[in-house]
Amino acid sequence: MARDPAHRLDALLIGAAPAVAIRAVVELGIPDRLAEGPQRVEALAAAHDLDPDALRRLLRALAAQGIFAVEGDLWRNTPMSALLRPGAAGSRAAAARYGAHPALLQAWLGLPETLRTGRPAFEAAHGAPFFDWLEAHPDAAFTDYMTERTAAVADAVVGALDLAGVTALLDVGGGAGALLQAILAANPGVRGAVLDRRAAVAACPVEAIAGDFFAPLPAGFDAALLKEILHDWGDADAARILARCRAALPAGGRLFLVEALADDPRAAWMDLVMMVVFGGRERSRAALEALLVEAGFALEGTQPLAGGLCLLTATAIDHPGGAPRRA
Ligand SMILES: C[S@@+](CC[C@H](N)C(=O)[O-])C[C@H]1O[C@@H](n2cnc3c(N)ncnc32)[C@H](O)[C@@H]1O
Repeated sequence: MARDPAHRLDALLIGAAPAVAIRAVVELGIPDRLAEGPQRVEALAAAHDLDPDALRRLLRALAAQGIFAVEGDLWRNTPMSALLRPGAAGSRAAAARYGAHPALLQAWLGLPETLRTGRPAFEAAHGAPFFDWLEAHPDAAFTDYMTERTAAVADAVVGALDLAGVTALLDVGGGAGALLQAILAANPGVRGAVLDRRAAVAACPVEAIAGDFFAPLPAGFDAALLKEILHDWGDADAARILARCRAALPAGGRLFLVEALADDPRAAWMDLVMMVVFGGRERSRAALEALLVEAGFALEGTQPLAGGLCLLTATAIDHPGGAPRRA
């Protein structure tokens, strides 16, 4: 990174252009095509019915960032552009499709409005909360993006989860189910299911329950996992989700949270995404513990994972006054 302040600013002030350019080549499938071997820009352009000069200029701009390279007149993948192939190990293809989706970009333009109101600009721009909007916009690739993102920490989560004494684990908002699949493979005595929106679990490789985590959760589980769920929501909604978990678990049942901790500087940009897109936030350990206690859980421990995420393990406690707080 350039060190002087003006150059660092210049690198940031290029704005959304790199993300939009990367999304364009992913949508066209150019990294996949170049995986078959180096190609001339004319052949790439002809395959996609594109203007060769415009495509060459796009590839040159990306090559300046290390995405694609050219030798003579043959373009080829680089380690960075190879990561833009869907399904590649460590792929960021869905991240590119989601992050620079026009609806997301439009939401970011509403940041000044969010600063005035504290409300997510996404909702103001599109007239619906993100997850309602997503129902009609699968091209936003959000579930694929989460699957990619979660793959990067799956081994760390599997290694850190202590499922001793657990017989059945519900992955609440578990998306397409890849993480639970990995957890169950490492813990063969444990039964597991994912509960998520119908579209998210459509191709789930493990038991899937299409449902709503603001409604009563299915019985029969003695542990629940919430990975990057609470940060999507404001405090009142996060408390409702935790109350649903508590109501579904027996006393002594376990709750596992995987979240970034707001105190970690690496969480700052994701916190901003949560504010603008979802109306949620990253939280400190103390803020998460307060939510857990309010819902009827005792926080037992916190373990750092890869990539700035943390595993928080909690136990469902008996409420002195009887039933836990109503959802
Ligand atoms: C940030 S993603 C986390 C996905 C997964 N836990 C992971 O980390 O890969 C949030 C998940 O919550 C799900 N979700 C949102 N609203 C929901 C609701 N009301 N009921 C059930 N799932 C919901 C989304 O479909 C999405 O899969």
